[in-house]
Amino acid sequence: MRIDGKVVLITGASEGIGAACAESFRRRGAKLSLVARSEEKLRQVAGGDALITVGDVTLPETRAAAVAGTLERYGTIDILLNNAGVGLYSPSWRASIEETRRMYELNFFAPLGLIQLVVPHMRAKKSGMIVNVSSIAGKMTLPWFTLYSSTKFALGSLTNGLRMELRYDGIQTMVVCPGYVKTRFQTNVIDGQPPDRLLRGRKFAITPVQCAEAIARGVERGARTVVTPAYSWIYIAFHGLFPSLVDSQLAAIYHGDPP
Ligand SMILES: NC(=O)c1ccc[n+]([C@@H]2O[C@H](COP(=O)([O-])OP(=O)(O)OC[C@H]3O[C@@H](n4cnc5c(N)ncnc54)[C@H](OP(=O)(O)O)[C@@H]3O)[C@@H](O)[C@H]2O)c1
Repeated sequence: MRIDGKVVLITGASEGIGAACAESFRRRGAKLSLVARSEEKLRQVAGGDALITVGDVTLPETRAAAVAGTLERYGTIDILLNNAGVGLYSPSWRASIEETRRMYELNFFAPLGLIQLVVPHMRAKKSGMIVNVSSIAGKMTLPWFTLYSSTKFALGSLTNGLRMELRYDGIQTMVVCPGYVKTRFQTNVIDGQPPDRLLRGRKFAITPVQCAEAIARGVERGARTVVTPAYSWIYIAFHGLFPSLVDSQLAAIYHGDPP
């Protein structure tokens, strides 16, 4: 899909990957509608032109306000970019169910709620694109990140199912699976922290700008799935071919009691 002139609604746009996406899409000529809780940061990303909706996207009233405000300002929504998400580092056998539910509200139910608001509009005009930001953890389960992985697998399944459900309505769907991206995601987690050995991998992390560019290019070519950096496909393929080997290596990395 051509991005120039299109209206893009982006959640989690106040920092990290979402803020970088706002910049990448703006540079390509998109009209922006941005959602997050931090008003000041959102205003900075928005500059003078973008529409902002300040609020918690897990709340139905925030989602309704974002969609209604966008339609009122621009008359249409061409691309919905469900990016807002949060992590939870805790072994699944002892994680708080309350915190897990909060994570599902943001990582799965908020995107689903926005999709349900936006799809009738896209179906009526027979065009549109839904982009859901999952993770490489939505392709292979990572220990201590098991529950986060499960939210991202769910989001991936939703994206794939929607693609078939909306095939004859002119609506495309794309799932994005970033590897390690240098944002504040690791400190913004609901609870817990990754093992030191994993944190050392930060030197191989990509920047939010690189991730956003991969997303924008994916939209332009109508990709089903964007894995970024692209070499992460090797891990996914290796895991598919030799699951027991990968499981034992990951189990060794995460061996011991989490902090
Ligand atoms: N960074 C990585 O290594 C990585 C890797 C794979 C996938 N991802 C995925 O990429 C997406 C973006 O991650 P990131 O690294 O950019 O994270 P981040 O730097 O922590 O940014 C998260 C964004 O989501 C917003 N947000 C959080 N809770 C919200 C809520 N309840 N309502 C509305 N907005 C909310 C935050 O803004 P406010 O606090 O202002 O609301 C912020 O703009 C997430 O879905 C994440 O799972 C990240």
